[in-house]
Amino acid sequence: MTAASSANPVVLQLTGIGKRFGPVQALRNVNLTLRAGEVHALMGQNGAGKSTLIKVLTGVYPVDAGEMLLGDTPVAAATPRDAQTLGINTVYQEVNLCPNLSVAENIFAGHYPRHGAKGAWRIAWRRMQDDARALLARLNLDIDVSRVLGSFPVAVQQMVAIARSLHGQSKVLILDEPTSSLDRDEVARLFGVLRQLRAQGLAILFVSHFLDEVYELADRITVLRNGEYVGEYLPANLDAPALISAMIGRAFTASTGAVRAGAAPNTVEPLLSARGLGRKGAVQPLDLDLRPGEVLGLAGLLGSGRTELARLLFGLDKADSGTLKLRGETLALSSPTQAVRHGLAMCPEDRKAEGIVADLSIRENIALALQARLGIWRCLGTRRQQVLADKFIQQLGIKAADAEMPISQLSGGNQQKALLARWLATEPALLILDEPTRGIDVAAKQDIMDKIRMLAAEGLAVLFISAELDEISRLSDRIAVMRDRRKAGELPGGSSEVAIADMIAGVPA
Ligand SMILES: Nc1ncnc2c1ncn2[C@@H]1O[C@H](COP(=O)(O)OP(=O)(O)OP(=O)(O)O)[C@@H](O)[C@H]1O
Ligand SMILES: [Mg+2]
Repeated sequence: MTAASSANPVVLQLTGIGKRFGPVQALRNVNLTLRAGEVHALMGQNGAGKSTLIKVLTGVYPVDAGEMLLGDTPVAAATPRDAQTLGINTVYQEVNLCPNLSVAENIFAGHYPRHGAKGAWRIAWRRMQDDARALLARLNLDIDVSRVLGSFPVAVQQMVAIARSLHGQSKVLILDEPTSSLDRDEVARLFGVLRQLRAQGLAILFVSHFLDEVYELADRITVLRNGEYVGEYLPANLDAPALISAMIGRAFTASTGAVRAGAAPNTVEPLLSARGLGRKGAVQPLDLDLRPGEVLGLAGLLGSGRTELARLLFGLDKADSGTLKLRGETLALSSPTQAVRHGLAMCPEDRKAEGIVADLSIRENIALALQARLGIWRCLGTRRQQVLADKFIQQLGIKAADAEMPISQLSGGNQQKALLARWLATEPALLILDEPTRGIDVAAKQDIMDKIRMLAAEGLAVLFISAELDEISRLSDRIAVMRDRRKAGELPGGSSEVAIADMIAGVPA
Protein backbone atom coordinates (compact mmCIF):
# COMPACT_ATOMS: atom_id res chain seq x y z
CA MET A 1 0.00 0.00 0.00
CA THR A 2 2.80 2.38 0.82
CA ALA A 3 5.65 0.84 -1.13
CA ALA A 4 7.17 3.17 -3.65
CA SER A 5 7.70 1.96 -7.16
CA SER A 6 11.14 0.52 -7.63
CA ALA A 7 13.54 0.18 -10.49
CA ASN A 8 14.24 -3.45 -9.68
CA PRO A 9 12.42 -5.82 -12.04
CA VAL A 10 9.67 -8.02 -10.64
CA VAL A 11 10.71 -11.67 -10.59
CA LEU A 12 7.72 -13.30 -8.98
CA GLN A 13 4.21 -11.98 -8.60
CA LEU A 14 1.42 -13.65 -6.61
CA THR A 15 -2.09 -12.24 -6.80
CA GLY A 16 -5.26 -13.23 -4.98
CA ILE A 17 -3.86 -16.44 -3.53
CA GLY A 18 -6.29 -18.60 -1.56
CA LYS A 19 -5.76 -21.84 0.37
CA ARG A 20 -8.13 -23.76 2.63
CA PHE A 21 -7.46 -26.77 4.88
CA GLY A 22 -10.89 -28.20 5.70
CA PRO A 23 -12.57 -25.59 7.89
CA VAL A 24 -9.44 -23.43 8.10
CA GLN A 25 -9.08 -20.67 5.52
CA ALA A 26 -5.31 -20.41 5.80
CA LEU A 27 -4.90 -17.85 2.99
CA ARG A 28 -7.41 -15.49 1.46
CA ASN A 29 -6.70 -13.10 -1.39
CA VAL A 30 -2.97 -12.75 -0.65
CA ASN A 31 -0.56 -10.76 -2.83
CA LEU A 32 3.22 -10.88 -2.91
CA THR A 33 5.70 -9.23 -5.26
CA LEU A 34 9.36 -10.25 -5.22
CA ARG A 35 11.98 -8.20 -7.06
CA ALA A 36 15.46 -9.11 -8.27
CA GLY A 37 18.23 -8.03 -5.94
CA GLU A 38 15.91 -7.40 -3.00
CA VAL A 39 15.34 -9.01 0.36
CA HIS A 40 11.65 -9.21 1.18
CA ALA A 41 10.43 -10.00 4.70
CA LEU A 42 7.15 -11.87 5.12
CA MET A 43 5.70 -10.97 8.50
CA GLY A 44 2.74 -12.08 10.57
CA GLN A 45 1.75 -13.65 13.87
CA ASN A 46 1.91 -17.38 14.52
CA GLY A 47 -0.64 -19.02 12.26
CA ALA A 48 -0.96 -15.99 9.96
CA GLY A 49 -0.22 -18.16 6.93
CA LYS A 50 3.44 -17.43 6.16
CA SER A 51 4.62 -21.03 5.86
CA THR A 52 1.46 -21.96 3.98
CA LEU A 53 2.06 -19.22 1.40
CA ILE A 54 5.58 -20.52 0.90
CA LYS A 55 4.37 -24.10 0.59
CA VAL A 56 1.69 -23.17 -1.94
CA LEU A 57 4.21 -21.22 -3.95
CA THR A 58 6.68 -24.08 -4.00
CA GLY A 59 4.30 -26.87 -4.85
CA VAL A 60 4.11 -28.55 -1.44
CA TYR A 61 0.34 -27.88 -1.41
CA PRO A 62 -1.91 -27.23 -4.42
CA VAL A 63 -3.27 -23.69 -4.53
CA ASP A 64 -7.07 -23.08 -4.43
CA ALA A 65 -7.25 -19.64 -5.98
CA GLY A 66 -5.13 -16.90 -7.47
CA GLU A 67 -2.34 -16.36 -9.95
CA MET A 68 1.41 -16.90 -9.68
CA LEU A 69 3.72 -15.47 -12.31
CA LEU A 70 7.44 -16.08 -12.60
CA GLY A 71 8.48 -13.39 -15.03
CA ASP A 72 5.65 -13.66 -17.54
CA THR A 73 5.04 -17.39 -17.17
CA PRO A 74 2.46 -18.87 -14.81
CA VAL A 75 4.13 -20.92 -12.08
CA ALA A 76 2.80 -24.42 -12.22
CA ALA A 77 4.85 -26.21 -9.61
CA ALA A 78 3.17 -29.46 -8.64
CA THR A 79 6.10 -30.50 -6.46
CA PRO A 80 8.96 -28.75 -4.68
CA ARG A 81 11.27 -30.27 -7.28
CA ASP A 82 9.30 -28.52 -10.06
CA ALA A 83 9.67 -25.24 -8.20
CA GLN A 84 13.38 -25.80 -7.91
CA THR A 85 13.65 -26.52 -11.62
CA LEU A 86 11.93 -23.19 -12.23
CA GLY A 87 14.58 -21.47 -10.10
CA ILE A 88 12.53 -21.10 -6.90
CA ASN A 89 14.58 -22.52 -4.06
CA THR A 90 13.42 -22.97 -0.52
CA VAL A 91 14.75 -23.72 2.94
CA TYR A 92 11.61 -24.72 4.86
CA GLN A 93 10.88 -24.04 8.52
CA GLU A 94 11.55 -27.69 9.23
CA VAL A 95 14.99 -28.30 7.75
CA ASN A 96 15.04 -31.76 6.24
CA LEU A 97 18.61 -32.91 5.99
CA CYS A 98 20.21 -36.25 6.84
CA PRO A 99 22.72 -35.77 9.66
CA ASN A 100 24.39 -39.13 8.97
CA LEU A 101 25.15 -38.47 5.30
CA SER A 102 28.11 -36.40 4.14
CA VAL A 103 27.80 -32.72 3.37
CA ALA A 104 28.15 -33.38 -0.36
CA GLU A 105 25.53 -36.12 -0.30
CA ASN A 106 23.11 -33.83 1.50
CA ILE A 107 23.58 -31.13 -1.09
CA PHE A 108 22.93 -33.49 -3.98
CA ALA A 109 20.56 -36.00 -2.38
CA GLY A 110 17.98 -37.08 -4.94
CA HIS A 111 19.95 -35.85 -7.94
CA TYR A 112 23.50 -37.09 -7.60
CA PRO A 113 25.71 -36.22 -10.55
CA ARG A 114 26.42 -39.41 -12.49
CA HIS A 115 28.97 -40.64 -14.96
CA GLY A 116 27.90 -40.28 -18.59
CA ALA A 117 26.16 -42.66 -20.97
CA LYS A 118 28.08 -45.87 -20.24
CA GLY A 119 28.08 -45.82 -16.50
CA ALA A 120 24.80 -43.96 -16.14
CA TRP A 121 24.21 -45.66 -12.82
CA ARG A 122 27.50 -44.74 -11.25
CA ILE A 123 27.58 -41.72 -9.01
CA ALA A 124 30.33 -39.26 -9.92
CA TRP A 125 31.69 -38.87 -6.40
CA ARG A 126 34.64 -36.73 -7.32
CA ARG A 127 32.49 -34.32 -9.35
CA MET A 128 29.88 -34.24 -6.61
CA GLN A 129 32.48 -33.21 -4.07
CA ASP A 130 33.96 -30.57 -6.38
CA ASP A 131 30.52 -29.15 -7.14
CA ALA A 132 29.61 -29.14 -3.48
CA ARG A 133 32.81 -27.28 -2.64
CA ALA A 134 32.13 -24.73 -5.38
CA LEU A 135 28.58 -24.13 -4.12
CA LEU A 136 29.72 -23.67 -0.55
CA ALA A 137 32.44 -21.31 -1.72
CA ARG A 138 29.61 -19.08 -2.99
CA LEU A 139 28.55 -18.94 0.66
CA ASN A 140 32.10 -18.32 1.91
CA LEU A 141 32.20 -21.72 3.52
CA ASP A 142 35.31 -23.85 3.25
CA ILE A 143 34.68 -27.21 4.92
CA ASP A 144 35.45 -30.88 4.31
CA VAL A 145 32.41 -31.89 2.23
CA SER A 146 33.08 -35.61 2.73
CA ARG A 147 32.49 -35.28 6.47
CA VAL A 148 29.17 -36.33 8.00
CA LEU A 149 26.80 -33.36 8.19
CA GLY A 150 25.78 -34.04 11.79
CA SER A 151 29.34 -33.40 12.94
CA PHE A 152 29.01 -29.69 12.05
CA PRO A 153 27.30 -27.00 14.12
CA VAL A 154 23.70 -26.05 13.30
CA ALA A 155 24.80 -22.86 11.57
CA VAL A 156 26.90 -24.82 9.10
CA GLN A 157 24.03 -27.25 8.55
CA GLN A 158 21.84 -24.28 7.76
CA MET A 159 24.34 -23.07 5.16
CA VAL A 160 24.34 -26.55 3.65
CA ALA A 161 20.55 -26.38 3.43
CA ILE A 162 20.90 -23.10 1.56
CA ALA A 163 23.58 -24.51 -0.71
CA ARG A 164 21.32 -27.47 -1.41
CA SER A 165 18.55 -25.10 -2.40
CA LEU A 166 20.83 -22.96 -4.55
CA HIS A 167 22.09 -25.11 -7.35
CA GLY A 168 20.56 -24.75 -10.76
CA GLN A 169 19.45 -21.44 -12.12
CA SER A 170 18.27 -19.82 -8.91
CA LYS A 171 16.08 -16.76 -9.26
CA VAL A 172 14.31 -16.83 -5.95
CA LEU A 173 15.55 -17.97 -2.54
CA ILE A 174 13.00 -18.50 0.22
CA LEU A 175 13.98 -18.97 3.87
CA ASP A 176 11.35 -19.74 6.51
CA GLU A 177 12.70 -18.68 9.93
CA PRO A 178 16.33 -19.42 9.07
CA THR A 179 17.80 -17.81 12.18
CA SER A 180 15.72 -19.38 14.93
CA SER A 181 18.48 -21.78 15.96
CA LEU A 182 21.50 -19.59 15.29
CA ASP A 183 23.48 -17.46 17.72
CA ARG A 184 24.44 -13.85 17.04
CA ASP A 185 27.67 -14.51 15.17
CA GLU A 186 26.03 -17.16 13.07
CA VAL A 187 23.16 -14.83 12.17
CA ALA A 188 25.70 -12.21 11.14
CA ARG A 189 27.39 -14.75 8.93
CA LEU A 190 24.12 -15.87 7.34
CA PHE A 191 23.17 -12.27 6.67
CA GLY A 192 26.54 -11.70 5.03
CA VAL A 193 25.73 -14.54 2.67
CA LEU A 194 22.24 -13.24 1.96
CA ARG A 195 23.59 -9.78 1.17
CA GLN A 196 26.03 -11.34 -1.24
CA LEU A 197 23.28 -13.33 -2.96
CA ARG A 198 21.14 -10.22 -3.13
CA ALA A 199 23.99 -8.40 -4.83
CA GLN A 200 24.13 -11.26 -7.34
CA GLY A 201 20.54 -10.40 -8.26
CA LEU A 202 18.63 -13.07 -6.38
CA ALA A 203 15.16 -12.25 -5.07
CA ILE A 204 15.12 -13.35 -1.42
CA LEU A 205 12.05 -13.92 0.73
CA PHE A 206 12.52 -14.53 4.41
CA VAL A 207 10.35 -15.07 7.46
CA SER A 208 11.49 -14.04 10.92
CA HIS A 209 9.99 -13.18 14.29
CA PHE A 210 13.01 -11.02 15.15
CA LEU A 211 12.15 -7.46 14.22
CA ASP A 212 15.72 -6.19 14.45
CA GLU A 213 16.72 -8.74 11.81
CA VAL A 214 13.95 -7.53 9.56
CA TYR A 215 15.04 -3.92 9.85
CA GLU A 216 18.65 -4.88 9.35
CA LEU A 217 18.13 -6.81 6.15
CA ALA A 218 14.79 -6.23 4.45
CA ASP A 219 14.25 -3.88 1.51
CA ARG A 220 10.52 -4.47 1.62
CA ILE A 221 7.98 -6.00 4.00
CA THR A 222 4.72 -7.82 3.33
CA VAL A 223 2.39 -8.33 6.28
CA LEU A 224 -0.22 -11.08 6.64
CA ARG A 225 -2.86 -11.26 9.33
CA ASN A 226 -5.20 -14.21 9.81
CA GLY A 227 -4.43 -15.47 6.34
CA GLU A 228 -5.22 -12.12 4.77
CA TYR A 229 -3.00 -9.65 2.96
CA VAL A 230 -2.52 -6.47 4.99
CA GLY A 231 -0.07 -4.61 2.79
CA GLU A 232 3.40 -4.13 1.36
CA TYR A 233 5.67 -1.57 2.98
CA LEU A 234 9.11 -0.03 2.85
CA PRO A 235 10.87 -0.42 6.22
CA ALA A 236 11.65 3.31 6.28
CA ASN A 237 7.91 4.06 6.29
CA LEU A 238 6.96 1.50 8.90
CA ASP A 239 8.58 1.61 12.33
CA ALA A 240 8.47 -1.37 14.68
CA PRO A 241 5.31 -0.36 16.60
CA ALA A 242 3.51 0.24 13.29
CA LEU A 243 4.71 -3.12 11.98
CA ILE A 244 3.46 -4.93 15.07
CA SER A 245 0.14 -3.11 14.84
CA ALA A 246 -0.20 -4.21 11.22
CA MET A 247 0.51 -7.80 12.31
CA ILE A 248 -1.93 -7.92 15.21
CA GLY A 249 -4.57 -5.52 13.89
CA ARG A 250 -4.57 -3.14 16.84
CA ALA A 251 -2.23 -0.81 18.64
CA PHE A 252 0.53 -2.65 20.49
CA THR A 253 1.84 -1.48 23.81
CA ALA A 254 4.70 -3.35 25.38
CA SER A 255 3.37 -4.83 28.60
CA THR A 256 4.29 -3.10 31.79
CA GLY A 257 2.29 -5.53 33.88
CA ALA A 258 5.00 -8.11 34.38
CA VAL A 259 6.84 -6.62 37.31
CA ARG A 260 9.71 -8.53 38.83
CA ALA A 261 9.18 -9.39 42.42
CA GLY A 262 12.90 -8.93 43.04
CA ALA A 263 15.10 -11.82 44.00
CA ALA A 264 13.70 -14.07 46.65
CA PRO A 265 15.87 -13.36 49.69
CA ASN A 266 18.73 -15.77 50.17
CA THR A 267 17.02 -16.95 53.32
CA VAL A 268 14.25 -18.57 51.31
CA GLU A 269 14.95 -22.30 51.32
CA PRO A 270 15.97 -23.37 47.79
CA LEU A 271 13.64 -25.79 46.07
CA LEU A 272 16.43 -27.38 44.11
CA SER A 273 20.08 -26.92 44.86
CA ALA A 274 23.07 -28.26 43.02
CA ARG A 275 26.54 -28.51 44.58
CA GLY A 276 29.51 -29.37 42.41
CA LEU A 277 27.12 -30.79 39.85
CA GLY A 278 28.84 -31.69 36.62
CA ARG A 279 29.32 -34.11 33.79
CA LYS A 280 32.53 -34.68 31.87
CA GLY A 281 32.56 -32.99 28.48
CA ALA A 282 29.20 -31.29 29.12
CA VAL A 283 29.24 -29.12 32.24
CA GLN A 284 32.09 -28.33 34.64
CA PRO A 285 31.08 -28.83 38.30
CA LEU A 286 28.98 -25.88 39.48
CA ASP A 287 26.70 -24.66 42.28
CA LEU A 288 23.18 -23.45 41.58
CA ASP A 289 20.11 -22.67 43.71
CA LEU A 290 16.58 -22.43 42.40
CA ARG A 291 14.07 -20.85 44.79
CA PRO A 292 10.29 -20.93 44.82
CA GLY A 293 8.79 -17.74 43.39
CA GLU A 294 11.97 -16.85 41.55
CA VAL A 295 12.87 -16.72 37.86
CA LEU A 296 16.53 -17.58 37.36
CA GLY A 297 17.68 -16.54 33.90
CA LEU A 298 20.38 -18.70 32.34
CA ALA A 299 22.38 -16.84 29.71
CA GLY A 300 25.21 -17.93 27.46
CA LEU A 301 26.04 -18.61 23.86
CA LEU A 302 24.80 -21.66 22.02
CA GLY A 303 27.05 -24.51 23.08
CA SER A 304 28.07 -22.83 26.34
CA GLY A 305 26.49 -25.63 28.36
CA ARG A 306 23.05 -24.10 29.07
CA THR A 307 21.05 -26.97 27.65
CA GLU A 308 23.47 -29.54 29.08
CA LEU A 309 22.96 -28.09 32.56
CA ALA A 310 19.19 -28.23 32.14
CA ARG A 311 19.45 -31.86 31.11
CA LEU A 312 21.44 -32.69 34.26
CA LEU A 313 18.89 -30.96 36.49
CA PHE A 314 16.03 -32.81 34.82
CA GLY A 315 17.64 -36.25 34.87
CA LEU A 316 17.94 -36.55 31.10
CA ASP A 317 21.67 -37.00 31.53
CA LYS A 318 23.44 -38.44 34.56
CA ALA A 319 25.79 -36.23 36.51
CA ASP A 320 29.19 -37.77 37.24
CA SER A 321 30.03 -35.39 40.05
CA GLY A 322 28.29 -33.43 42.78
CA THR A 323 24.90 -33.60 44.45
CA LEU A 324 21.39 -32.42 43.80
CA LYS A 325 18.94 -31.69 46.62
CA LEU A 326 15.20 -31.18 46.35
CA ARG A 327 13.71 -29.41 49.39
CA GLY A 328 16.82 -30.38 51.31
CA GLU A 329 16.60 -34.08 50.48
CA THR A 330 19.18 -35.74 48.24
CA LEU A 331 17.74 -36.42 44.83
CA ALA A 332 19.12 -39.10 42.53
CA LEU A 333 17.32 -38.87 39.23
CA SER A 334 17.73 -41.70 36.81
CA SER A 335 15.04 -40.66 34.34
CA PRO A 336 12.91 -37.70 33.33
CA THR A 337 9.80 -39.63 34.40
CA GLN A 338 11.18 -39.60 37.93
CA ALA A 339 11.84 -35.89 37.63
CA VAL A 340 8.24 -35.32 36.56
CA ARG A 341 6.98 -37.31 39.58
CA HIS A 342 9.02 -35.00 41.80
CA GLY A 343 7.31 -31.97 40.31
CA LEU A 344 10.01 -30.95 37.87
CA ALA A 345 9.16 -29.99 34.31
CA MET A 346 11.32 -29.19 31.32
CA CYS A 347 10.20 -27.71 28.04
CA PRO A 348 12.99 -28.61 25.57
CA GLU A 349 14.37 -26.32 22.88
CA ASP A 350 14.16 -28.76 20.01
CA ARG A 351 10.43 -29.28 19.58
CA LYS A 352 10.85 -31.68 16.68
CA ALA A 353 13.35 -34.08 18.19
CA GLU A 354 12.28 -34.09 21.84
CA GLY A 355 8.92 -32.45 21.81
CA ILE A 356 5.82 -32.97 19.80
CA VAL A 357 4.43 -36.33 18.81
CA ALA A 358 3.44 -35.45 15.26
CA ASP A 359 0.59 -37.90 14.71
CA LEU A 360 -1.14 -37.35 18.04
CA SER A 361 -3.77 -34.65 18.49
CA ILE A 362 -3.16 -31.36 20.25
CA ARG A 363 -5.17 -32.70 23.21
CA GLU A 364 -3.08 -35.87 23.48
CA ASN A 365 0.16 -33.91 23.15
CA ILE A 366 -0.84 -31.55 25.95
CA ALA A 367 -1.93 -34.40 28.24
CA LEU A 368 1.27 -36.43 27.78
CA ALA A 369 3.41 -35.14 30.63
CA LEU A 370 0.58 -34.96 33.14
CA GLN A 371 -0.24 -38.59 32.34
CA ALA A 372 3.38 -39.47 33.01
CA ARG A 373 3.21 -37.65 36.32
CA LEU A 374 0.07 -39.50 37.38
CA GLY A 375 1.54 -42.89 36.40
CA ILE A 376 -0.07 -45.63 34.37
CA TRP A 377 -2.57 -46.60 37.06
CA ARG A 378 -4.32 -43.27 37.17
CA CYS A 379 -5.51 -42.79 33.65
CA LEU A 380 -6.42 -39.31 32.57
CA GLY A 381 -9.85 -39.65 30.92
CA THR A 382 -10.63 -38.12 27.56
CA ARG A 383 -13.03 -35.67 29.15
CA ARG A 384 -10.38 -34.33 31.56
CA GLN A 385 -7.88 -34.13 28.72
CA GLN A 386 -10.37 -32.07 26.74
CA VAL A 387 -10.92 -29.62 29.56
CA LEU A 388 -7.18 -29.30 30.02
CA ALA A 389 -6.48 -28.78 26.32
CA ASP A 390 -9.25 -26.22 25.91
CA LYS A 391 -7.99 -24.31 28.91
CA PHE A 392 -4.48 -23.97 27.53
CA ILE A 393 -5.58 -23.31 23.95
CA GLN A 394 -7.46 -20.37 25.39
CA GLN A 395 -4.81 -19.23 27.91
CA LEU A 396 -1.85 -19.36 25.55
CA GLY A 397 -3.81 -18.27 22.49
CA ILE A 398 -3.01 -21.43 20.51
CA LYS A 399 -4.48 -20.92 17.05
CA ALA A 400 -6.26 -24.19 16.27
CA ALA A 401 -9.62 -25.18 14.78
CA ASP A 402 -10.03 -27.57 17.73
CA ALA A 403 -8.03 -29.71 20.11
CA GLU A 404 -8.53 -32.86 18.05
CA MET A 405 -6.38 -31.62 15.16
CA PRO A 406 -3.11 -33.50 14.71
CA ILE A 407 -0.47 -31.25 16.25
CA SER A 408 1.55 -31.38 13.03
CA GLN A 409 -1.12 -29.23 11.38
CA LEU A 410 -0.46 -26.35 13.75
CA SER A 411 1.84 -23.54 12.62
CA GLY A 412 5.39 -23.71 14.01
CA GLY A 413 4.86 -21.15 16.75
CA ASN A 414 1.62 -22.73 17.86
CA GLN A 415 3.31 -26.13 18.19
CA GLN A 416 5.79 -24.43 20.50
CA LYS A 417 2.94 -23.06 22.63
CA ALA A 418 1.30 -26.51 22.82
CA LEU A 419 4.57 -27.89 24.12
CA LEU A 420 4.68 -25.24 26.83
CA ALA A 421 1.09 -26.15 27.71
CA ARG A 422 2.12 -29.79 28.16
CA TRP A 423 4.52 -28.83 30.93
CA LEU A 424 2.31 -26.23 32.56
CA ALA A 425 -0.40 -28.88 32.75
CA THR A 426 1.69 -30.89 35.21
CA GLU A 427 1.50 -27.95 37.64
CA PRO A 428 5.18 -28.33 38.45
CA ALA A 429 7.12 -26.88 41.37
CA LEU A 430 10.08 -26.17 39.09
CA LEU A 431 9.78 -25.35 35.42
CA ILE A 432 12.84 -25.41 33.16
CA LEU A 433 12.24 -23.52 29.94
CA ASP A 434 14.83 -23.93 27.21
CA GLU A 435 14.32 -21.16 24.65
CA PRO A 436 10.55 -21.08 25.17
CA THR A 437 9.94 -18.13 22.84
CA ARG A 438 11.84 -19.42 19.84
CA GLY A 439 9.58 -19.16 16.80
CA ILE A 440 6.94 -17.29 18.81
CA ASP A 441 5.64 -14.00 17.42
CA VAL A 442 6.29 -10.68 19.17
CA ALA A 443 2.88 -10.29 20.75
CA ALA A 444 2.71 -13.89 21.93
CA LYS A 445 6.24 -13.62 23.36
CA GLN A 446 4.98 -10.91 25.65
CA ASP A 447 2.00 -13.07 26.70
CA ILE A 448 4.27 -15.99 27.51
CA MET A 449 6.62 -13.84 29.57
CA ASP A 450 3.64 -12.40 31.48
CA LYS A 451 2.40 -15.92 32.11
CA ILE A 452 5.80 -17.01 33.47
CA ARG A 453 5.90 -14.01 35.83
CA MET A 454 2.39 -14.79 37.01
CA LEU A 455 3.29 -18.40 37.78
CA ALA A 456 6.42 -17.29 39.62
CA ALA A 457 4.29 -14.94 41.70
CA GLU A 458 2.25 -17.99 42.67
CA GLY A 459 5.39 -19.75 43.92
CA LEU A 460 6.76 -21.58 40.91
CA ALA A 461 10.54 -21.81 40.59
CA VAL A 462 11.61 -21.10 37.02
CA LEU A 463 14.86 -21.67 35.15
CA PHE A 464 14.61 -19.57 32.02
CA ILE A 465 17.16 -20.27 29.28
CA SER A 466 17.39 -17.83 26.41
CA ALA A 467 19.87 -16.50 23.91
CA GLU A 468 17.95 -13.22 23.83
CA LEU A 469 19.50 -10.98 26.41
CA ASP A 470 16.64 -8.48 26.48
CA GLU A 471 14.30 -11.29 27.52
CA ILE A 472 16.72 -12.51 30.19
CA SER A 473 17.17 -8.99 31.49
CA ARG A 474 13.45 -8.24 31.64
CA LEU A 475 12.21 -11.50 33.08
CA SER A 476 14.83 -12.69 35.55
CA ASP A 477 15.08 -12.07 39.29
CA ARG A 478 18.62 -13.39 39.15
CA ILE A 479 20.85 -14.29 36.25
CA ALA A 480 23.41 -17.07 35.93
CA VAL A 481 25.85 -16.93 33.04
CA MET A 482 27.48 -19.91 31.34
CA ARG A 483 30.70 -19.68 29.38
CA ASP A 484 32.70 -22.58 27.89
CA ARG A 485 30.65 -25.17 29.76
CA ARG A 486 31.21 -23.63 33.17
CA LYS A 487 29.32 -21.16 35.28
CA ALA A 488 30.96 -17.78 34.74
CA GLY A 489 29.04 -16.09 37.53
CA GLU A 490 25.76 -14.60 38.65
CA LEU A 491 24.22 -11.17 38.17
CA PRO A 492 21.30 -9.54 39.95
CA GLY A 493 17.92 -9.23 38.22
CA GLY A 494 17.52 -6.12 36.13
CA SER A 495 21.18 -6.19 35.00
CA SER A 496 21.57 -4.55 31.62
CA GLU A 497 21.99 -6.48 28.40
CA VAL A 498 25.51 -5.04 28.17
CA ALA A 499 26.42 -6.35 31.62
CA ILE A 500 25.16 -9.81 30.70
CA ALA A 501 26.93 -9.75 27.33
CA ASP A 502 30.17 -8.73 29.05
CA MET A 503 29.99 -11.64 31.43
CA ILE A 504 29.20 -14.01 28.56
CA ALA A 505 32.25 -12.72 26.70
CA GLY A 506 34.44 -12.80 29.79
CA VAL A 507 35.00 -9.04 29.91
CA PRO A 508 35.94 -8.12 33.50
CA ALA A 509 33.26 -5.96 35.17
N1 LIG B 1 -1.48 -29.31 6.75
C1 LIG B 1 -2.36 -28.52 7.40
N2 LIG B 1 -3.59 -28.97 7.70
C2 LIG B 1 -4.50 -28.19 8.33
N3 LIG B 1 -4.26 -26.92 8.72
C3 LIG B 1 -3.04 -26.42 8.45
C4 LIG B 1 -2.03 -27.18 7.79
N4 LIG B 1 -0.92 -26.42 7.68
C5 LIG B 1 -1.23 -25.23 8.24
N5 LIG B 1 -2.51 -25.22 8.70
C6 LIG B 1 -3.18 -24.09 9.35
O1 LIG B 1 -3.03 -22.94 8.53
C7 LIG B 1 -2.82 -21.77 9.33
C8 LIG B 1 -1.55 -21.07 8.91
O2 LIG B 1 -0.43 -21.83 9.29
P1 LIG B 1 1.06 -21.46 8.89
O3 LIG B 1 1.91 -22.62 9.25
O4 LIG B 1 1.09 -21.00 7.48
O5 LIG B 1 1.37 -20.22 9.86
P2 LIG B 1 2.71 -19.35 10.01
O6 LIG B 1 2.35 -17.95 9.64
O7 LIG B 1 3.82 -19.97 9.27
O8 LIG B 1 2.94 -19.37 11.60
P3 LIG B 1 4.32 -19.56 12.48
O9 LIG B 1 4.85 -18.18 12.68
O10 LIG B 1 3.81 -20.10 13.79
O11 LIG B 1 5.23 -20.48 11.77
C9 LIG B 1 -2.81 -22.24 10.78
O12 LIG B 1 -4.09 -22.03 11.32
C10 LIG B 1 -2.51 -23.73 10.67
O13 LIG B 1 -3.06 -24.45 11.74
MG1 LIG C 1 5.58 -20.92 9.87
